[in-house]
Amino acid sequence: MGNIKKMGVVGSGQMGSGIAQLAAVHGLDVWLLDTDPDALSRATKSISNSIHRLISKGHLTKASNNLSLYSFCCFPAVGAEALRRLRCTSNLEDLSAADVVIEAIVESEDVKKKLFNELDLITKRSAILASNTSSISITRIASATTRPSQVIGMHFMNPPPIMKLVEIVRGADTSDETFNVTKALAERFGKTVICSQDYSGFIVNRILMPMINEAFFALYTGVATKEDIDTGMKLGTNHPMGPLELADFIGLDICLSIMRVLHAGLGDGKYAPCPLLIQYVDAGRVGRKRGIGVYNYAKVTEPVKPSSRL
Ligand SMILES: NC(=O)c1ccc[n+]([C@@H]2O[C@H](COP(=O)([O-])OP(=O)(O)OC[C@H]3O[C@@H](n4cnc5c(N)ncnc54)[C@H](O)[C@@H]3O)[C@@H](O)[C@H]2O)c1
Repeated sequence: MGNIKKMGVVGSGQMGSGIAQLAAVHGLDVWLLDTDPDALSRATKSISNSIHRLISKGHLTKASNNLSLYSFCCFPAVGAEALRRLRCTSNLEDLSAADVVIEAIVESEDVKKKLFNELDLITKRSAILASNTSSISITRIASATTRPSQVIGMHFMNPPPIMKLVEIVRGADTSDETFNVTKALAERFGKTVICSQDYSGFIVNRILMPMINEAFFALYTGVATKEDIDTGMKLGTNHPMGPLELADFIGLDICLSIMRVLHAGLGDGKYAPCPLLIQYVDAGRVGRKRGIGVYNYAKVTEPVKPSSRL
């Protein structure tokens, strides 16, 4: 189980594409799978652009392959090698030889369980099945498989190639071996690991999402404008992004799904999602990935002056 050479990544959106990039750059052979061919095309383009950007900024180093630091002139070769190791598919069977599969599809328990059931049937018996879920119970996802001891949460932060943290979540039956192999893999990717018990939202989103939800309530009840809410939290509490900007970056659909998991899983009314957050998602205003969320990104790349609130 310990010798990870081949990885499957399911879901080629913001997170899956970043995880696939990270793995390819660190020397793994990667199959990136999505049911939507357009998502795979977008992912290929964004991975290629991201690798070239990292190379040009000098952030991509051969250290990732456990060799000594590359001299600057060698960086392009690292990028080309990584792109060669990455292949895209819509056929689940292509993941059958993977040593580990990381799932990064829609934040829905039913959809994830169906996928894990299929992965359990087609992957080799020793493979680890990891979920990048932001909030959903690993124990329940694992119950859709015949190998719950090899199912684990491997929660990367957005964007995975840049953010330093991986939150590892052990389900009720996750084995020590699965945990140790997963931790070693995250560390091979240069990440710092934290470990959470399997309770809704784990550590990071248990704390972050209620804050984002509260920012929506502040906007909804007219406490302040979105710009003042974000500026207040940036300059007043030293956060690099305001909570509403961050929600747009994460995806309002993802934020709403997480609030619903917290609300259902922890049973406290304080986790009820803000009606304005629900309304934005209903209107398709899910954030940067769709060009509009709390802010409008259609014409400019930075948050713009307000259009009216929905
Ligand atoms: N966005 C974030 O900041 C963030 C951070 C950490 C974790 N996550 C988690 O990562 C997961 C993915 O989030 P995202 O932001 O990348 O979402 P996204 O909407 O950008 O991408 C999801 C992708 O999954 C694909 N997909 C959906 N169902 C599928 C299936 N059954 N099989 C194959 N592909 C399928 C979709 O076509 C889409 O391309 C979620 O569980 C989310 O909670 C998100």
